[in-house]
Amino acid sequence: MIKQLKPGLLVSLFLTVSSLALGQSYGKNGMVVCDNTVASQVGIEILKKGGNAIDASVATAFALAVTHPQAGNIGGGGFLVYLDSNGKSTTIDFREKAPLSASPTFFLDAEGNFVKGSNREGLKSVGVPGTVAGLYLAHQKYGLLPWKELIQPAVELAEKGVTLSWTLEQHAKDFKAGDYPDFLKNYFNNSLGKPTKQGETWVQKELANTLKLIRDQGKDGFYKGHVAQEIVSFMKANGGLITLEDLNKYEAIERKPVKGQYKEFEIIAMPPPSSGGIALIEMLNMMELANFDSIQFNSIEYVHLLAEAMRRAFADRAEHLGDPDFNPDMPVEKLTSKEFAQMRYKNIDFNRASISDSSKFGQLYDGQNTTHLSIIDKVGNSVSLTYTLEQSYGCGLGSPKLGFLFNNEMGDFNPKPSYTNSGWLIGTPPNIIQPEKRMLSSMSPTIITKNGKPYLIIGSPGGRTIINTVFQTILCVLEYDMPVEKAIAGMKIHHQWMPDEIVYETNLLSPDTRKSLENMGHSIRGVENLGRLMGIQIMEEQRVYKGTADSSSPDGGAVGY
Ligand code: GLY
Repeated sequence: MIKQLKPGLLVSLFLTVSSLALGQSYGKNGMVVCDNTVASQVGIEILKKGGNAIDASVATAFALAVTHPQAGNIGGGGFLVYLDSNGKSTTIDFREKAPLSASPTFFLDAEGNFVKGSNREGLKSVGVPGTVAGLYLAHQKYGLLPWKELIQPAVELAEKGVTLSWTLEQHAKDFKAGDYPDFLKNYFNNSLGKPTKQGETWVQKELANTLKLIRDQGKDGFYKGHVAQEIVSFMKANGGLITLEDLNKYEAIERKPVKGQYKEFEIIAMPPPSSGGIALIEMLNMMELANFDSIQFNSIEYVHLLAEAMRRAFADRAEHLGDPDFNPDMPVEKLTSKEFAQMRYKNIDFNRASISDSSKFGQLYDGQNTTHLSIIDKVGNSVSLTYTLEQSYGCGLGSPKLGFLFNNEMGDFNPKPSYTNSGWLIGTPPNIIQPEKRMLSSMSPTIITKNGKPYLIIGSPGGRTIINTVFQTILCVLEYDMPVEKAIAGMKIHHQWMPDEIVYETNLLSPDTRKSLENMGHSIRGVENLGRLMGIQIMEEQRVYKGTADSSSPDGGAVGY
């Protein structure tokens, strides 16, 4: 292992570990867990240099923008939850915003009908990116090391190249020539013009140049000057709507976390514009009322209870939640109160599925490709960060001169005001498109404390399933006393009120249980996998951090020291 961070050495180390997935790791001084082992290694090297958890999260997030192109990004947005070693917690909201020219009818045709797919395709689907502003704000307020040192590893990875993993080889194979921007051409074709293969080096020169400007000019390197001008020219030339004014006006926002209590544990979670924290706390409050002595993990009773809690929390999410700056009267306290959970829990029939009222609201599935990182440093400062391009590779578009992809986050808004059906359209007011509004998110970066100290740092990608996979992982650790790796691996289900169905992980739920759930009135549907959780459990007695990257993350890695 290298002791000092020297640029040349750093890259050669990365190249050797770039296809190595490290599912689990222990560390006495620090831990970084994310979807790419190389990026985790970047974070650990920052911690070893004396950086804190915020520094490591900035460096890891920028490294992911190079090594994990499907979701790591500078063209998207996300949320960061921070708990410092003195017990003070805060959050950074760097969610994308609708451009100034957006309107509630942005994705409707002349007859007022929603144009299917239009909110996730092309440059109209791009929200004003927040990632660079958010990471910059987190660093300005809470970082220790110079900004430049945190961006430099990402610059080197882009400039000298990363080794393609098997997963990236598979993704690259799916790209059809002409479907993706020119700067990705050497992602799917090597220097001989043949499809790239695992083990080949992928250099991203244009991205390296963009990262250098961010390294040298901070946030202004993205929102002003060359990069901003080029974003705007590219938008103008290709039917996009983001202007210089949109970029100049973008600000990340520090917000108070939402908090809940589950028995002796405190939940510190992301407030709106994420719906994750509120829904998570509402469901955990309902769980506190259940008698788990008689509810075995993975039993019929367990799945039924969880599905009913999810159904209720997602209905409340649809009715009430959106950008707080546009919805000042959101009932956050009420939704996260014990009394409200009691009222919701009371009408659960333990023998029968409730019916989601399709005449009220609908819910849509959204992008499955987001990415999460969990970090803790030597003194216990903890970061839980989730960020996204929305769908895998965002909208698949970006300027050839800049080398990064834009998000398609506008698809997270409700596309047609007042129109809801039982399929997937939802039209409730809090999340209707308005200029400068942040779209509602399901990202749920969370930190749990015990006796005021960090106990579990957790999060996941997965669109709306994020809230539920994070919820179940937390429940398994806090209620069933499972170690984090078992909680992450355990069977997960998903219910989001509408469509009215339980989605479960095939092979992890017995046919008998499935049959019984159907007999209780549930529709059920199997999928290969739910969630890709990245967790750290703090083992106070052993004085060690245990990191676990979900086995469903092929390149993921927990790296401790
Ligand atoms: N784009 C996924 C989310 O924000 O929930």
